[in-house]
Amino acid sequence: MAPIDPHSYTDSTHPFTTHISLSLYFDFSSSTILSSALLSLSSPHTGPLFLDTRSLSISSVIDPQTRTPIPFSLSSEPDLIKGSLLTLSLSDQSQVLISFTTSPNSSALQWLAPPQTFNKTSPFVYTQCQAIHARSIFPCQDTPAARIKYSARLNIPRPLSAVMSARHVERRMPVAGEAATACDDSMWCAEDRVVEEFVMEQPIPPYLFAFAVGEIGYREVGPRTRVYAESVPSVLDAAAREFAGTEDMIRQGEMLFGPYEWERFDLLVLPPSFPYGGMENPRMVFLTPTVIKGDASGAQVVAHELAHSWTGNLITNKNNEHFWLNEGFTTYAERRIVEVVQGEDRAALNTGIGWRGLNDEMERFKDNMEFTKLKTKQEGVDPDDVYSQVPYEKGFQFLWRIERQIGRPAFDEFLKKYIATFKFQSIDTETFLDFLKANVPGIEKEIDLELWAEGTGIPPDALEPVSNIYTKIVSLAQEFKNGRMPTEDEVADWGGQEWELYLENLPKSVEASQILALDARYHLAESKDYEVKVAFLQLAISAKCRDYYGEVERTLKGVGRMKYLRPLYTYLVQGNSKEEEKVLAKRVFAEAKECYHPIAQGVVEAILSKHV
Ligand code: BES
Ligand code: ZN
Repeated sequence: MAPIDPHSYTDSTHPFTTHISLSLYFDFSSSTILSSALLSLSSPHTGPLFLDTRSLSISSVIDPQTRTPIPFSLSSEPDLIKGSLLTLSLSDQSQVLISFTTSPNSSALQWLAPPQTFNKTSPFVYTQCQAIHARSIFPCQDTPAARIKYSARLNIPRPLSAVMSARHVERRMPVAGEAATACDDSMWCAEDRVVEEFVMEQPIPPYLFAFAVGEIGYREVGPRTRVYAESVPSVLDAAAREFAGTEDMIRQGEMLFGPYEWERFDLLVLPPSFPYGGMENPRMVFLTPTVIKGDASGAQVVAHELAHSWTGNLITNKNNEHFWLNEGFTTYAERRIVEVVQGEDRAALNTGIGWRGLNDEMERFKDNMEFTKLKTKQEGVDPDDVYSQVPYEKGFQFLWRIERQIGRPAFDEFLKKYIATFKFQSIDTETFLDFLKANVPGIEKEIDLELWAEGTGIPPDALEPVSNIYTKIVSLAQEFKNGRMPTEDEVADWGGQEWELYLENLPKSVEASQILALDARYHLAESKDYEVKVAFLQLAISAKCRDYYGEVERTLKGVGRMKYLRPLYTYLVQGNSKEEEKVLAKRVFAEAKECYHPIAQGVVEAILSKHV
């Protein structure tokens, strides 16, 4: 037994799956998918083959050539983090056909009833597979060390349509026989059903598998970009306006990092319960609707997810212990794109917000310094529980430090070569460091690479950004302590990010009266910009300013993005004399839980159980 990933049962002595062919019958009435998966291995195999699953019921495994059964066993007690080990006993087979059903509480899937959607008339279902949830949709070697190509036939009710982060082949009538063993032909070919067929011809890590099914429409926004969303004209129009500049960003990305390898770059705006700001699913990025603010600031999230097309999707971390290779590089690449399309000041503001975030994480992990490292040990650790800004912002700082050392032109060359060398591979921190040392001779004498990669905390040669606007806002925030509020003139040209930076830099110990005065003047609690609203509400909770608890409750019930749920629930329940707030948190969670994605439910449960 030679595991290669602390979050997967995958064994390095077994062949990898190279292709999966899926037939998926969506049953909205039971929130399940009746499925079959034909797995093709890199070579014929005899003996056990380990696959990851979570809450799947497996009904049969056969050899597709001979149609004979393949013995299998599913571990009886699921591991809380890894799920259930599925062991197949192969005798010289290179393909297996597995029939199975997902569970209504599959951790990757959120099933929305019509009232939970924008248009209120049709159900909706979507995936979120990163970090380790693909296994709750189909059995697989659910490690980013394994790359798979796939094809998929999604059998759905005729009024709905399906999108995937894959190439759409066609929408057509179901054909008898193609369900494989997912369900009977009579169900598959029923009159009210339609099949949407997709192929993914580039090998991807399983966490990038993604689909959504619902009443979905789209608008064209560029030569290789459509924005998809529930087919509500106002939502589609707002999204199309917000993301009009996408093609410009793709071009900048190509100039900086090399050719865009995924052909299309579509965007999908999900319902408000989507647990992330964005998810870099290849060919089709998934986005929270909270990024549509009407001021083109959603472009930053798009820049980030676009940047993953090179760093993350082309070059992938081998496992989650090296997650900074995905997110740190992407944060660096995102800011380079933002710098070109929105200017240096905007990029410096983003870096400054990140710097504040990184410093706050040091406080959060002060009793668990392992997670202030870039390379972390994650045996027995749920990646969703330790998700933080550290891989993003410390990773960004590390790369920025290297850039300062060797100069931008040399660093740009280095980045392009790095991407060209490792594209479509999954690598670890050592591989990156070896490549760095080989291509920048002597770098280890200038920068303490070991301290950056393996040390805790923020290295002394990290840098707080400097720019006029950044420095001005941070000093204004410090003056607030002495009772000085910014004047109307000073904030006249502030957008959401300026306010976010200001609020996040205020001392956490401001008085309730100061909070009320600030809001009376600038109406921050009602901001349409959730970054601003949530930053303000955190201060309000810290100051136990009850006037805002109603707004806190509305926010927690209105969106499921974990970037907002995490701090709001945490601020409500952590610390002493918080009895009233704890009761509020528990009640709101009980009432809102149903509307959260299962991943968000798990994360909030973990916060509450730690403190309540
Ligand atoms: N890949 C992440 C989202 C993610 C990380 C999902 C880990 C599951 C596990 C995505 O690229 C991301 O970083 N999103 C950010 C966007 C922001 C940095 C602009 C988010 O959701 O806030
Ligand atoms: Zn990211």
